[in-house]
Amino acid sequence: RGQWRGLIEEYRAFLPVSENTPVVTLHEGNTPLIPAPAIAQQIGRGVKVYVKYDGLNPTGSFKDRGMTMAISKAKEAGAQAVICASTGNTSAAAAAYARRAGLKAFVVIPDGYVALGKLAQALVYGAEVIAIEGNFDDCLNAVRTMAQEYPVTLVNSVNPYRLEGQKTGAFEVVDALGDSPDWLCIPVGNAGNITAYWMGFCEYHQAGHCQKLPKMMGFQAAGAAPIIQGHPITDPKTIATAIRIGNPASWDKAIAAQEASQGAFNAVTDEEILEAYRLLASQEGVFCEPASAASVAGLLKVKDQVPSEATVVCVLTGNGLKDPDCAIQNCNNPIKSGVAPNVSAIAQAMGF
Ligand code: F0G
Repeated sequence: RGQWRGLIEEYRAFLPVSENTPVVTLHEGNTPLIPAPAIAQQIGRGVKVYVKYDGLNPTGSFKDRGMTMAISKAKEAGAQAVICASTGNTSAAAAAYARRAGLKAFVVIPDGYVALGKLAQALVYGAEVIAIEGNFDDCLNAVRTMAQEYPVTLVNSVNPYRLEGQKTGAFEVVDALGDSPDWLCIPVGNAGNITAYWMGFCEYHQAGHCQKLPKMMGFQAAGAAPIIQGHPITDPKTIATAIRIGNPASWDKAIAAQEASQGAFNAVTDEEILEAYRLLASQEGVFCEPASAASVAGLLKVKDQVPSEATVVCVLTGNGLKDPDCAIQNCNNPIKSGVAPNVSAIAQAMGF
């Protein structure tokens, strides 16, 4: 069979595009659904666990799914420039797809709280990066107004085309499993992705591609958990900077998804996130960024509630390479440095 053509071509029938839409693609999507036996073993009772490794998208996160749609539609509408607020991944994806389409990209980020790899991406793809003295919520408020007052198209997930693209993650999960999983565990920041996944499962169900619908299990970082606390957080704090968000834009839609699916929201601490992060890399061989590990940390936290023999999918939203500082600072096996350049010294350092 031919090569994967990117998610707009592959799922065209489910997306608001026409023959007039210029398809701006980096052949995103088609990411692997990987069995996670070490996590499954911690739960036991015949539970099957998979990770949807969306960190393997072209810019290293699930944002590419939304951005192929948002930028294609912006190009179709004749836009010259796009703007977004971002904790990093949206800015990387916006920059890449905008530049590929020949559009200018402006990204507004919280100064000092964007992981190094993401910052490098936005710069090298050629975006105008504006770092403000504020958090993500301040950035989003600003760009929403900017898009009304200046000739720039907003490509945050409040742009409905973003969610349309991101819902294809659910299609791929169903295509791989032959049905929906029993649980879908997902990190929640601005609450766009949980909304999009639920849309995807519902639309695929309606079209007869799956028999059941999953429980949507959303996980926030404990220091940035407005949905669990029930009110906005003015000073969100977490090591998982991607989800360091105090007032999610799609809050209501995320609650609707959780209620309709009889799922739940829970908070996980930074320590639980880091434990899951190390477990995924060192036992499963899957390196994701800290925010992504919140889905696995959450699953392990509520593992006693998983029905026996259930199938669970955890969405790993971003690649571990995005945040090398976090990796180096939080692993338990430090570098053995200062070793002499000869076999006996190296063997000694190896413990032989
Ligand atoms: N995981 C990662 C790696 C993210 O970058 C984000 C959001 C989320 C999870 C949460 O998804 O916002 O749809 O609930 N990142 C945004 C950004 C905010 O600017 O890159 P959500």
